[in-house]
Amino acid sequence: MPEDFVVTPWEVTGEVDYDKLVERFGTQRIDDALRERIRRHTGELHPLLNRGLFFSHRDMNWILDEFEKGNRFHLYTGRGPSSGIHIGHMVPWIFAKWLQDKFRARMWFQITDDEKYWFKDFEKLDDAKAIAYDNILDIIAVGFDPKLTEVFIDTEYIRHLYPLAVQVAKRITFSTAKAVFGFDESFNLGQIFYTAVQSVPCFLPSIDAGRNVPVLIPCGIDQDPHFRVTRDVAERLGYYKPAGIYSKLMPGLLGLQSKMSASRPETGIFATDTEKAMRKKVSNAFTGGRATVEEQRKLGANPAVCSVFAYYAYLFAPDDADLAEIERTCRSGERLCGDCKSELADRVAAFLKVHQERREKARDRLDEFLLSD
Ligand code: TRP
Repeated sequence: MPEDFVVTPWEVTGEVDYDKLVERFGTQRIDDALRERIRRHTGELHPLLNRGLFFSHRDMNWILDEFEKGNRFHLYTGRGPSSGIHIGHMVPWIFAKWLQDKFRARMWFQITDDEKYWFKDFEKLDDAKAIAYDNILDIIAVGFDPKLTEVFIDTEYIRHLYPLAVQVAKRITFSTAKAVFGFDESFNLGQIFYTAVQSVPCFLPSIDAGRNVPVLIPCGIDQDPHFRVTRDVAERLGYYKPAGIYSKLMPGLLGLQSKMSASRPETGIFATDTEKAMRKKVSNAFTGGRATVEEQRKLGANPAVCSVFAYYAYLFAPDDADLAEIERTCRSGERLCGDCKSELADRVAAFLKVHQERREKARDRLDEFLLSD
């Protein structure tokens, strides 16, 4: 039977059924009990967690067991250099920053110029590296605490990464890699090796501390296949298995099945968009609206299929009462899509203004964050 949807670290197609995905990947759902347990430590829940957008995990209860015993965890996430950082990329970072603040956790942030070169996003390795430096500005702008955050670019920190990558790579057979990632004869050796590189920061904090440190990875669920492999080798190498807390993949502006893509700017909101460009894209977004104003006033619209509503839910209506009111007035027909879009655009404009100011300031702050060999 053909797969109705595909989620791998390099490909997401079709309409993702997250219940099925959790089963396929063998991860756990975040349930009320776990949310309550997190809330006991954080006081409040981040809306992304409360709304089920961070929805799945591996070993989160173990992370909290250890934390409660005084064994603090470190955070690890990453990003492949991308010529357009969009709002969807920032979702896990924003959540990771919240975790950092609430748990005073150290954060390790990997930038994978090697990966994006091997996976053909860049013709030249130097171009991947240049974009990596530019992306770091967006990462810093999210507000990570410089005292608690280490950022490193793979090719600039490889001396530190390589010994661990070597040890991981020895324990992953080609047949495992093929089964997990679907590699065939056409893949290059870098692509096949890469998962060893992404595994390394799961163990780096333990090397750095000189003792085993629990590591929690906040990221999109598409990255789980890498960490499934990492978890298989971790104990054989003498480390803890990394834990994960996973988000759904934020949709693009052109419908819930659409994706934000740097090669198609109209599909999403990007960190460096001008206000004008952003407003134009939001005004062209796909909504759950009716064909005419009269119909919409009478029958209401459908937020469940609407990209604009999704943007509110992910990042632009953090207050639950506010989001509920947006939903109610949408369904009742009191709210028309044009007004709803301009309200969203106002909120996005405010977000981008702050982000872009911080991004400029970040140019002088690289030293506070960057590790290199
Ligand atoms: N593979 C990720 C990407 O394509 C980059 C990455 C490296 C990452 N390490 C990570 C993502 C850890 C999440 C968590 O962008």
